[in-house]
Amino acid sequence: ESYDMGGHDTYMHKEIHEQADAVDRALRGRIDDRFSTVHLGGLNLDARDARAVRRVKILGCGTSYHAGQIGAQMIEELARIPADAEPASEFRYRNPVVDPDTLYIAVSQSGETYDVLAAVQELKRKGARVLGLVNVVGSAIARETDGGIYVHAGPEVCVVSTKCFTNMVVSFGLLALHLGRTRDLSVADGKRIIEGLRKLPGQIEEILGNEAEIEKLAAEYADAKSMMFIGRVRGYPVAREASLKLKEVSYIHAEAYPASELKHGPLALIEPAMPTVAIVPDDELLEKNRAALEEIKARSGRILAVAHQEQEKADHTIVVPKNEDELDPILMGIPLQLFAYYTAKAMGRDIDKPRNLAKSVTVE
Ligand code: AGP
Repeated sequence: ESYDMGGHDTYMHKEIHEQADAVDRALRGRIDDRFSTVHLGGLNLDARDARAVRRVKILGCGTSYHAGQIGAQMIEELARIPADAEPASEFRYRNPVVDPDTLYIAVSQSGETYDVLAAVQELKRKGARVLGLVNVVGSAIARETDGGIYVHAGPEVCVVSTKCFTNMVVSFGLLALHLGRTRDLSVADGKRIIEGLRKLPGQIEEILGNEAEIEKLAAEYADAKSMMFIGRVRGYPVAREASLKLKEVSYIHAEAYPASELKHGPLALIEPAMPTVAIVPDDELLEKNRAALEEIKARSGRILAVAHQEQEKADHTIVVPKNEDELDPILMGIPLQLFAYYTAKAMGRDIDKPRNLAKSVTVE
């Protein structure tokens, strides 16, 4: 990919539209249909090592941390290994217990984020095994880790990360499948996930084909001073990332909450001036999510749902194509990247270079 704008008004718009190709690149040459698994050449982790992993800890910052949260859920679901994600910026300051049976994964677009690099160096000093999930080839984090996965998103210029987030989550899907197939994930489930992964580029094109509708919706909600983003389990990190995207480019205040936590406090904020964006996948939590929409509607809250089917309680629904439950988070945030972009555009923001932010944070 060149740095040419290719007819787009911003790099953010260009990079959002590069996602189908980027995902295709992340999958290329990695799928092994014969054994319903994937080959990850640079991982440096054989089947015996993979089986010895007792826990996975993912470290990243900002958008990459959110990708890690989705990745942790994928690893738990597909490989049944306890996994969680933590901001690297917190981890490195809290004198963490470093455990030899834990696999640590540092996730970073630039591969240069100082907080992530410092966490990797501390882990290495304590003898931990650390993998990198990185976009920039040969970057500091890629060099310092014991092996890893390049996410192959191509150059990302806009300060606000879009295609790289998507490719990180796809790469976590590949890792989860690989770890799963060295453990208890069946051939049939491996096949099911591979079929889901193969559908992604076409489904991304389908979502981006809906751009005109998303532009209209962004204009409807651009008057909000503050917005609530909610999701449950797989949808919660999607809500967090969408909320960060909106904050970064539009400077509208946004909060992300698990839908299950609404009644424990944030419901007090709901009123017509505080719209909610709800992630509502067609999975085992659909009815629970619908109940949350009812609670919001009962308080006269405006609702924009991102869902696999029209939601009766929502004022508007962006319908996205359904994939396998475990892979749905890869797709559900994409319309909200466009939502953030069009909101910022309507407000005349400096989309590629939001105030106060830098593409890579290489200082403390
Ligand atoms: C993304 O939109 C942000 N600008 C920011 O949160 C970023 O993801 C974070 O600084 C981490 O960067 P990295 O992926 O290059 O490590």
